[in-house]
Amino acid sequence: MGNALSNQTVVVIGGSNGIGAAVATLAQTEGARAIAISRSGAAPGGVVPIVADVSDLLALGKALASIGVIDHLVHTAAARVSTPALPSLDESALQSTFDIKLFGAIHAARLALPHLSERASITFTSGQVSRKYGTGSVTKGAVNAAVDAAGRHLAKELAPRRVNVVSPGVVDTSLWGEAGSETRSSTIERVSAALPVKRVARPEELAAAYLFAMTNGFVTGSVIDVDGGGLL
Ligand SMILES: NC(=O)c1ccc[n+]([C@@H]2O[C@H](COP(=O)([O-])OP(=O)(O)OC[C@H]3O[C@@H](n4cnc5c(N)ncnc54)[C@H](OP(=O)(O)O)[C@@H]3O)[C@@H](O)[C@H]2O)c1
Repeated sequence: MGNALSNQTVVVIGGSNGIGAAVATLAQTEGARAIAISRSGAAPGGVVPIVADVSDLLALGKALASIGVIDHLVHTAAARVSTPALPSLDESALQSTFDIKLFGAIHAARLALPHLSERASITFTSGQVSRKYGTGSVTKGAVNAAVDAAGRHLAKELAPRRVNVVSPGVVDTSLWGEAGSETRSSTIERVSAALPVKRVARPEELAAAYLFAMTNGFVTGSVIDVDGGGLL
């Protein structure tokens, strides 16, 4: 147990699972009142759950308004959709990817604004594919690059509040399939072999980067790469 976030309120949109759940857990361990917003309303032990879909602006606004003063807003929510190569790309995958990850993050910042403390931080989530180019990655690449840009623009607009973006490489979460499934294990094995560090990340390693963004008062407008050397 630490106290880096004592007496502070940390809201994690997407805090029911994966990276967001690890952020909420770490925030709670560091003394914060940690709140996880998601559709399922699941939350790690000690974290307060709130049910809201980030694409339902009325519900999201109500959820954020019910919390009181927010010291740190984190957005990790993303749609679990396949984003195939261009010929097979359909409107709904493209739309929901942008709805949840980009528009969700921007609307969350907008709706949280009246509730943010004077020196609050906001941390968005993008991904290395914003700058790792390849076939079949146009949707994810474009949405992540847009999240990086949105974070940097808002860092200027919302100053002295700070806005940063954490950009993960491959992390072992259910984004890659159910725990123990063949799809998830084979993806992780293949990616691990190609990385300089020879393994993918644990969600807790990403959570440490969000904690850094929340607690270091000199960091703003940064895109923090936590990718095991994936961009090299
Ligand atoms: N895992 C990786 O390798 C990796 C790599 C690069 C970038 N990223 C990014 O990191 C972020 C977190 O990924 P993850 O691996 O932790 O994914 P995850 O395990 O699938 O978690 C996603 C979270 O988002 C929530 N969520 C999804 N749709 C939502 C909605 N409409 N409204 C509210 N909450 C919603 C989910 O909760 P409910 O289902 O309960 O709503 C869940 O808590 C995403 O932006 C992802 O693109 C991940």
